[in-house]
Amino acid sequence: MDAIHIRGGVALHGNVLIQGSKNAALPVLAATLLAKETSIIRNCPRIADVYRMINLLDSLGCNVSWEDGGIRVDAGNVCEGEMPAEAITGMRSSLCLLGAMLGRCGEIVMEHPGGCVIGERPIDIHIAALGKMGVEFKEEGGRLYARASGLHGADLTLPFASVGATENILLAAVMAEGDTVVFGAAKEPEVTALCDFLKCCGASIEGAGSDVLTIHGRVPLHGGDFKIPADRIVAGTYLFGCAATGGCVLLEEAPIGQMEAAIHLAGQMGSKCEPVSEGLYIQSPKRAALPALVRTEPYPGFPTDLQSMALAAMTVGEGECVIEETIFENRFRVVPPLRDMGADIEELDTRKVRVKGVERLAGRSVEAMELRGGAALVLAGLAAQGQTLVTGCSYIFRGYENICRDLRELGARITSG
Ligand code: EPZ
Repeated sequence: MDAIHIRGGVALHGNVLIQGSKNAALPVLAATLLAKETSIIRNCPRIADVYRMINLLDSLGCNVSWEDGGIRVDAGNVCEGEMPAEAITGMRSSLCLLGAMLGRCGEIVMEHPGGCVIGERPIDIHIAALGKMGVEFKEEGGRLYARASGLHGADLTLPFASVGATENILLAAVMAEGDTVVFGAAKEPEVTALCDFLKCCGASIEGAGSDVLTIHGRVPLHGGDFKIPADRIVAGTYLFGCAATGGCVLLEEAPIGQMEAAIHLAGQMGSKCEPVSEGLYIQSPKRAALPALVRTEPYPGFPTDLQSMALAAMTVGEGECVIEETIFENRFRVVPPLRDMGADIEELDTRKVRVKGVERLAGRSVEAMELRGGAALVLAGLAAQGQTLVTGCSYIFRGYENICRDLRELGARITSG
């Protein structure tokens, strides 16, 4: 089942319920390691990355099971175990086990997470910050050895608002001696969700959602019962799906408060977006209008994770737009397959493209190279005339619980198999 089949040319219509957030669920699952008790994490998406994280927790001695719509994690007997290498190298978010295991056991050995197709993804900010908290690092044979004989708080200033580094600092700092203050912290809603979970376990944290976080260490933690918020990137994907096909949809439980930049852009493209009690109601014109410029930025700016889907929607709009990618150095890999479908996209440099809207795209066989680029190709297939085959869609299943089911609920002619 590594292909998605789409017969395009249909405007999306109907309601769809937005799944739980991948990028909130993964660090929260890692954080369950910090309390020697059982936690229940509700509304976790049933996606490949969550199953991988469960395997990793299992390999560290946790007892993990899906129960009553949640994941129950008993972290009573955590031990410094051998984590399956491919589960680490294959999933960047395994990196948040670094902060969690340093907090719980004071040490960890793991494969170096390495980069991925969207960029080099160094971990220098993680290492520099945790180093100031008393962690010693050694890299040998592709492995990362980290040990903290006395984890302590520190005043940290991040050179860039890295989401992952902020999360790792949080996970270590709640177990450290003394206070940690982070200046220039990431403000992403997924970081706030991690703070909320840690607080529901008894942690003392101030400034969640701001760029200054204060963590009071060594407050005893207990197990927590926590609901993962809805996924703003999945909701944004269906928002741009509506804009690409000129539809009218209701995104149930869409986290509207976290989607300001995406809703603003959809508005510039002519879509009417209205908050209603069930979620976000969107009405899009037959053809979107293209704004002059879109630039990705850390939250609350326009998210890099929606850049590919916005680009796909713009390929069939009216006018032209320059899209600048400021977060990752290699996030336009979707351009060649979109061009194969008839899109008019010019690469100005490795981080900037100009898209000129065309009347229509033509369906054809294209290959997903990564998660969000894959979702963008599905949107292009919805907008295209004829049949599109998206292969390599195991990337898509890493972040979308069931994109075909969701889009069928919105009237799309889409199947996987
Ligand atoms: C998180 O990745 C998300 N992943 C990404 O979503 C998202 O694109 C990214 O944040 C930015 O919003 C998860 O939450 C699991 P960063 P993360 O550390 O934490 C550089 C998706 O599609 N950097 O904020 O890895 C880095 O190379 C994924 O769901 C350093 O230079 O992102 C990048 O250019 C893709 N040194 C930039 O900062 C460091 O030590 C942002 O990285 C750390 C990061």
